[in-house]
Amino acid sequence: MYTREKLIELWKQFYTKHGFKEISSSSIIPENDPSVLFTTAGMHPLVPYLLGEKHPSGDKLFNFQRCLRTNDIDEVGDESHLSLFEMLGNWTLGQCDKKAMIKLSFEFLTSKEYLNIPKERIAVTVFEGDNTAPRDEQAYNAWKECGIEQIFYMPKKDNWWALGSGTGPCGPDSEMFYDTGKEKCCKECNPSCNCGKYLEIWNDVFMQYKVEKVGQMARPLEKPNIDTGMGLERTISILNGSGSVYDFGALKRAIEFIGSKAKVSYDFDNKSKKSYRIIADHLRAATFILGDEKGVLPSNIGQGYVLRRFIRRAVNCARNIDFDTKYFKGLVDIFVEEVGGDYQDISNNKQLIKEELDKEIAKFSKALEEGYREFEKVLSGIEKHIEFAAKNNQSVEKKISGKATFRLYDTFGFPFELTKELASERGFEVSKEEFDEKFKEHQAKSRDQSNKVFKGGLADSSQQSAYLHTATHLLLAALQHFYGKQVCQKGSNITPERLRFDFNLDHKMTTEELNQVENFVNDAIKASIPVICEVMSLQEAKDKGAHGSFSDRYGEEVKVYSIGDISKEICGGPHAENTSQLHHFKIIKEESCASGIRRIKAIID
Ligand code: ALA
Repeated sequence: MYTREKLIELWKQFYTKHGFKEISSSSIIPENDPSVLFTTAGMHPLVPYLLGEKHPSGDKLFNFQRCLRTNDIDEVGDESHLSLFEMLGNWTLGQCDKKAMIKLSFEFLTSKEYLNIPKERIAVTVFEGDNTAPRDEQAYNAWKECGIEQIFYMPKKDNWWALGSGTGPCGPDSEMFYDTGKEKCCKECNPSCNCGKYLEIWNDVFMQYKVEKVGQMARPLEKPNIDTGMGLERTISILNGSGSVYDFGALKRAIEFIGSKAKVSYDFDNKSKKSYRIIADHLRAATFILGDEKGVLPSNIGQGYVLRRFIRRAVNCARNIDFDTKYFKGLVDIFVEEVGGDYQDISNNKQLIKEELDKEIAKFSKALEEGYREFEKVLSGIEKHIEFAAKNNQSVEKKISGKATFRLYDTFGFPFELTKELASERGFEVSKEEFDEKFKEHQAKSRDQSNKVFKGGLADSSQQSAYLHTATHLLLAALQHFYGKQVCQKGSNITPERLRFDFNLDHKMTTEELNQVENFVNDAIKASIPVICEVMSLQEAKDKGAHGSFSDRYGEEVKVYSIGDISKEICGGPHAENTSQLHHFKIIKEESCASGIRRIKAIID
């Protein structure tokens, strides 16, 4: 049987043997990146290096990375989709030797000491080419030379990798699948037909291009790279033969734990099984978000909103199987126990995770109570309407409109099923179609909204962003100067237009305090101080008093950016060369962003 630990160990052994250096897993909240809410792939924290910055650990790297994706959220609960997952990744920076990389992938998959998969059981896909980029014959030939027979050419929609934001590094990829040996579903059966014959394990991305703005043509990357990523949970489920990501490790334990407390069993029906799985998945995701070194709390915006939805959806699913939410904390114990050794921040924050979960559950139940009152109002409104109509010899349906069911869902957290159940007890109808219609309208609206908020280029490497990044370091230095060293970064997000910086402080800043901070930064700008980058060991950085997260990084080389004796931070860059390039710094907003956390938005002009 394969376990998480075993697969990670094999990955480490293999890539170390081939001259790759291990780097640590980054936070689940991306740094300085306005284009996405969460780290969605192992390559995400590496974007500055994929775009040409030098990585302090060299140009051949590997790690395992916590990732979170919400685009497949509705699929969670089937055999293979998770919102929180881990990715085994490796990178070759500055060169793109496809043949060498494919040979390594082949060796890891098939050799006895590693995954030992018979090569007949491996199928691969490669890019077929179109009018924007040529057919990937190099990749095809490399697989052929390894002795792989099942090689499929696929169009861009299957074999082109780009970030969800539509910007940043991208290129053709070559995906690897496990052939289960099932009959072909049709003559054209191939790895992308989703019939279950082929299960995806791994992806080698040949990053030869980049897109700077959404909709623009891809341009060649001056220094191409190779990025590969293997989904840890999926691969284990395939190697172990079950094909389900819920059948081993933390998620299996979580499901067993739920089963020991819930009144409805896992196998009772499809709905109960799905509810168990969603609870396990969502609370694992919530544990990772709450426990993260960047410390996100439930709220109505951004990551906090996603976190809120995870917790509330888990509460709703718990109702389906009669599982008391007071046991959610027992699940946190399991998740922390399973991975806390690898993610120090999560294990340090165990208590906080439990407290915040409790608070959010309490808030949700209060919202639900209000929802019940609202539900009564809706019903009595309809009843009055019916009565009035009857007096005029007209009839009105005993039905709650889609608008009202959606409002109950959206504002008060009433799942559609609950509204339907309560309505039918009182002899009222509800329409799932109408609800879905409203739901879709809402989704489209929020997509537009988030496009507006998050557009702006991935870890965009424009000069303006680099300058704002330097301004962020000066801002933190100013805050620490006035309030003490305990002030630290709780979040950072930069677009070419502005910086946004979250930090811990127990009060609203006064106008005078804001002026002082602004002046501090502007004095540093006027002093024309060079920004110096040095590479050193983490210990050395620590000894020199560099600011940054030390939590789960050890034995690594890091980059330290210094601005005179004002600021010294561990950071990937890029930055201005000299503070004078920033011209002038201006705070445009100071507000609360979560309890004990303030948010500053600022510009340079
Ligand atoms: N970054 C690549 C992926 O997510 C490996 O598939």
